[in-house]
Amino acid sequence: MSSLSKGRSPLTIEHVDAYIQAFSSQCVIVVDGEGLIADCSAALLQEAGYTLQELKGMSLQQLGIESSFSILQDQYLEAVSRSSLNPIIRLRNCQGDVMNRRYAIVSLQTPDGRPYFSMHMDRVCTEEELSLLQKFAGTFMKDINLGVILIDVQFRIVDISDMACRVLGLHREKVVNKPVTEVFNAVPSHHQLIQPAILNGVVVRNHAVSWTNNEDRYELLLDSNVLKDEAGRTVGAYVIFKDVTNLRSLEQQVQRSDRLAMIGQIAAGTAHEIRNPLTSIKGFMQVLKNTFIEKGMVKEQEYTDIMLTEINRINELVSEFLLLSKPKNVSYHKVDIKLVMREILPIISNEALLHGVSVQYDAIPGLPKVIADSELLKQVFLNLCKNGIEAMADGGILTITEKVDYEELMVHIEIHDTGPGIPNFVIDKIFDPFFTTKENGTGLGLSVCQRIIHDIGGTIRVASKGYGTTFSVSIPFP
Ligand SMILES: Nc1ncnc2c1ncn2[C@@H]1O[C@H](COP(=O)(O)OP(=O)(O)OP(=O)(O)O)[C@@H](O)[C@H]1O
Ligand SMILES: [Mg+2]
Repeated sequence: MSSLSKGRSPLTIEHVDAYIQAFSSQCVIVVDGEGLIADCSAALLQEAGYTLQELKGMSLQQLGIESSFSILQDQYLEAVSRSSLNPIIRLRNCQGDVMNRRYAIVSLQTPDGRPYFSMHMDRVCTEEELSLLQKFAGTFMKDINLGVILIDVQFRIVDISDMACRVLGLHREKVVNKPVTEVFNAVPSHHQLIQPAILNGVVVRNHAVSWTNNEDRYELLLDSNVLKDEAGRTVGAYVIFKDVTNLRSLEQQVQRSDRLAMIGQIAAGTAHEIRNPLTSIKGFMQVLKNTFIEKGMVKEQEYTDIMLTEINRINELVSEFLLLSKPKNVSYHKVDIKLVMREILPIISNEALLHGVSVQYDAIPGLPKVIADSELLKQVFLNLCKNGIEAMADGGILTITEKVDYEELMVHIEIHDTGPGIPNFVIDKIFDPFFTTKENGTGLGLSVCQRIIHDIGGTIRVASKGYGTTFSVSIPFP
């Protein structure tokens, strides 16, 4: 009996039954001091296909285990002393199938001093399973629409999936076996996708990051974790990410249209209520003004002029509000964009002149007509051109270009300025109502434009790369 008492000092347990109950879902066998089976967990009985009565008091050979318990224990203690993987045991179930298990042995003792040992067994992959897993891993890295990066303990890239290469702008053969720090050396450390801390066991779940690769911007959702061997040592780490760019922009669009709808409701409710009293104030103000003129009260007359201008400003603001809610008297018909442009060019040129900006309009012959309200289209192009001109405070060139896509049946009008561009942290907000960076701006210009263009099935996109901005208005044609 004492020949079996090797290794660490035993763990005192109340009763073998209670101990085995605690591990019912794992494969566990408890042997007594003679190396005979004293108890088995429910999971083990189910896998082996025996009842407890059939195994109790039997030697381990009943389960097809060829070595005696004493030898198994020696093998385990040796593995522990060498800090290597736990040894493997071969069991046979009642049908004769062989099951490979890695095992650990815990030395136990009941309060009355009786020794027991529990064998805890983990499943080990068979050769076939292993090769299947390897095949799966290979296909997974190639086909799966997920970014996967495997890192070793030296913080080098062991493998990278095709999708990760595409999104991060890397070539697999150029980065495998390279240190992460070298591969991403151009990226500031706090923007790095793979942080050295992941090797210290920092687990990341659903971490949202933005990644810019040349001109493409990706919204990624990232998970990372360490990989450990059976002995609990860190052997590497992995990073997995999903590309949620489309989802994010969809979410933002929904939020934006929600906000627009809400503002629209408020606007519709209040705009009329503001306009009516304004009309009477304006009327009486004009009467007052006339009286002041008659009485030669010059100063008072100037005051009324200022008040009238201010009332007009409020009126204009309210009109924009109303447009946001539901444009009134909209009349859709076939519109020739060239005619729209011709009508607004004098206004744009005048504004441009004031800012020292030159305007270039490249009309193309035979631009298809679009279905729209020409007055509203004028407003869109005026707003966009005005923004461009306002962005070029120290002069520049405003270019208006037309393009036709006969495959998609779309007309594209691009308004490009040579201004300072729109910073990344601002660009997501510019279409939001009331977002403005200008002292006297209302921040309604772009949201009104977007509303008008959306209503005719078109889109407005913005591209800005630090220098210069291009707004592209795309409108379908029949
Ligand atoms: N071409 C551009 N270049 C740089 N920034 C721009 C440009 N167009 C728009 N923006 C930015 O977008 C913001 C919102 O534009 P928007 O037209 O909606 O409002 P606004 O121009 O500020 O005010 P309003 O149009 O009512 O006078 C601007 O304040 C500016 O910061
Ligand atoms: Mg504007």
